[in-house]
Amino acid sequence: MFSPDTYQNRRKALSKTIEDGIIFLPGNIPVPMNYPSNHLRFRQDSNFLYFCGLDFPNLNLVMNTGSGDSTLFGDDLSVDQIVWEGDRTSIKEMAGLAGINHFRPNKDLSKHLKKKKQSIHYLPQYRADQKKLMEQLFNGKGSSKNLIQSVIQQRSIKTEEEIIEIDQGMVVTAEMHKLAMMLTRPGAKEQTIVGQIEGFALSYGRRLAYPVIFSVRGEILHNNEYNNTLESGQLVLNDSGAESPMHYASDITRTFPVNGKFNKRQKAIYHIVNEMQFEAFNYCEPGKSYKDAHLKAASIAVEGLKSLGLMKGKVEDAVATGAHALFFPHGLGHMMGLDVHDMEGLGEDLVGYDDKKDRSDQFGLAYLRLAKELEPGFVLTVEPGLYFIPHLIDQWKADKKNNDFINYDKLDSYRDFGGIRIEDNIVITNEGYRILGPPIPKTIDEIEGLMEDNA
Ligand code: GLY
Ligand code: MN
Repeated sequence: MFSPDTYQNRRKALSKTIEDGIIFLPGNIPVPMNYPSNHLRFRQDSNFLYFCGLDFPNLNLVMNTGSGDSTLFGDDLSVDQIVWEGDRTSIKEMAGLAGINHFRPNKDLSKHLKKKKQSIHYLPQYRADQKKLMEQLFNGKGSSKNLIQSVIQQRSIKTEEEIIEIDQGMVVTAEMHKLAMMLTRPGAKEQTIVGQIEGFALSYGRRLAYPVIFSVRGEILHNNEYNNTLESGQLVLNDSGAESPMHYASDITRTFPVNGKFNKRQKAIYHIVNEMQFEAFNYCEPGKSYKDAHLKAASIAVEGLKSLGLMKGKVEDAVATGAHALFFPHGLGHMMGLDVHDMEGLGEDLVGYDDKKDRSDQFGLAYLRLAKELEPGFVLTVEPGLYFIPHLIDQWKADKKNNDFINYDKLDSYRDFGGIRIEDNIVITNEGYRILGPPIPKTIDEIEGLMEDNA
């Protein structure tokens, strides 16, 4: 945990932005796997972690906007519970760790919330159990827009201590990625390598920030199947990241050849994706919009694909009509923090867009999660990719979609290419940006160098 001051200051800053009443922040409760006492591994709610850092189930936090005072609701374990689970930090100690002055048992929570005539502010919930609790407590009265915006504002700007936590947390992620490259070889099974890298993170007490994507079918953007045996000549895409000890995410993608050597065609596409990322980085500075970075990456994609004969026509026109999205159908990146898609549960548009930027409904651009101007302290991913998605190619070709920009005949021989994505995590600084975490092999030479002994 950070120091009690950190959490106190965060709560004070939040309380100041809300005019009256109280702010109610429920912590997460355990989720049963198949019966109540056999539950899934606990993950605390990220807003709860942000405002008090307490990583224990069955806690609730109430902040008073007037005084800035907070009350922690929770129960010490009974002796019966201690027999099975062991003792845990007392509620009094927890309150001290988070700089909270008052603490009370959970049975007092409902009475406390219902007392006096006070407005109660709370955030949208993403879990069925918490949604139900809110329904019961507040009779369906909606969450508070002001509160959502204040929390987003605050969590968007990462402080120095958060950046250090993310940076240090990424040491494990970097090792996971190198391990994956070293284990990859013809005949290995995807599942075996996923087990090894996930096990590596677990052996340091870390969990993954999201399910691993490790596949020779890299064109499936969120592919969580690991059924393939790796074959020479294929590429494998590894999108995986460990959480830091305080649950800050990391989100890294590398794509590499199963046999350790890129062939000519793979090299050509890899160079384009690398160039997309390189050019996008040039837009990563305060005041520049991330939508412009995305569009720049798209124009590099079109230029590169034109040079290979896969696209044609004027680059600006192709990007304006969204023709590049056949190959680059997702956004350039997203905010990252305590959630891998940071604060997505509070509303993607509220996090990534503002009055100056509306979300497009054009295929591809519509999936851009972050479009607004960048500010110092934003932590985000830069993750361009190029993919050959047979279903999408067939659909567009049948519809004669963007015929003026795409050479469909040339695409046939790329149908089993898969996909390439390169993803890094950055922080926006006053001067520009900095890549977070230790370096992970990325250039063709670096990757081939590391994989040299695998073949
Ligand atoms: N790492 C998965 C994603 O960014 O959606
Ligand atoms: Mn990502």
